[in-house]
Amino acid sequence: MAPPAPTKINHNGKRLAPPSPSAGSNASPTKPRIPHPYLTQPDLIKLAQENNIAVTGYSSFGPQSFLELGNKNAANAKSLFEVDVVKSIAEKHGKTPGQVLLRWSTQRNVIVIPKSNNVDRLKQNLESVTFSLSDEEINQISALNQGLRFNEPADFGFRIFA
Ligand SMILES: NC(=O)c1ccc[n+]([C@@H]2O[C@H](COP(=O)([O-])OP(=O)(O)OC[C@H]3O[C@@H](n4cnc5c(N)ncnc54)[C@H](OP(=O)(O)O)[C@@H]3O)[C@@H](O)[C@H]2O)c1
Repeated sequence: MAPPAPTKINHNGKRLAPPSPSAGSNASPTKPRIPHPYLTQPDLIKLAQENNIAVTGYSSFGPQSFLELGNKNAANAKSLFEVDVVKSIAEKHGKTPGQVLLRWSTQRNVIVIPKSNNVDRLKQNLESVTFSLSDEEINQISALNQGLRFNEPADFGFRIFA
């Protein structure tokens, strides 16, 4: 018997529909995009992974990428690079806070797509898979969750509400 078709879910985990039959067996599963330690969304990740849906996390560095957009929530949030728990884990592993944040995602099987205009940071980001965080360290970073969202669709004129 054929395995059940992957379920499409949107970025808040609401069930939309199974993939269209015309997409056939090569239909690629929807990839919800889930941010950073201030918005961990464990239930959404679990739902996606249980349905064999790859999860991609943007804004892996939290507020950082929204600062240049003048985002108020980002301006009011503490930089994740400056949070004690992230800094001390980075020091312990001899890595940068950015690398720790990326590793926190990838060890939870969340794909990361960090952007940098700086060659050293691009290299750092690629090298973020060269070490492993302990479960305790992952949990410590996950505990930073505040349900803090930076990209509210309504802020961009879209009438979509979570
Ligand atoms: N955020 C969204 O809502 C969104 C939505 C759709 C698609 N995307 C795409 O997702 C990709 C990632 O974008 P993002 O918005 O999520 O940004 P991001 O990659 O989370 O953050 C980019 C910011 O972090 C800095 N940075 C990168 N690596 C760093 C490191 N190792 N240490 C310290 N700072 C570092 C960059 O500065 P420097 O350049 O100076 O290094 C830049 O200010 C982009 O291709 C974007 O187009 C994002």
